[in-house]
Amino acid sequence: MTIAVGERLPDVEVQVPGPSGPRRVRTTELLGTGKVVLFGVPGAFTPTCSDYHLPGFVLRAEDLRAKGVDTIACMAVNDAFVMAAWGQAREVGDSVVLVADGSAELTRALGLELDLAGGGLGLRCQRFAMILEDGVVRDLAVESGTGLDVSTADSVLAKL
Ligand code: BEZ
Repeated sequence: MTIAVGERLPDVEVQVPGPSGPRRVRTTELLGTGKVVLFGVPGAFTPTCSDYHLPGFVLRAEDLRAKGVDTIACMAVNDAFVMAAWGQAREVGDSVVLVADGSAELTRALGLELDLAGGGLGLRCQRFAMILEDGVVRDLAVESGTGLDVSTADSVLAKL
């Protein structure tokens, strides 16, 4: 069952890239306080995710912060080493926290699985964007396929 507006972000362990390697962190610690925008992508380095979805949030990071967003985070079912390399390739810097959901625990807990086994990508997460306030979902937009329409940075900005 997909998480709904009004529900609390599940508390699971994820990893974030750090200066000395991956760091394990609970989602509540990472994303559970303040106003948070969490968006999910089917894969690091995949074309739409890499050329449009992530760069849109990097470009709009200051605008989102001006609207009171404390943390912008991007999750994918990829390991923290891949997420680190992706962040460097896309020059993310400190604008977006990259969240590695390598074993899809967070994806499953959110009910946002996407089966891309037929395309050789295995289990991934759907493309989505959510607004959280102190760990509670205030808005959720999930794409119907792998395309990008309702979960862009501009769409999120318009809701803040
Ligand atoms: C893309 O980001 O373009 C993409 C994501 C998953 C599968 C295929 C393409």
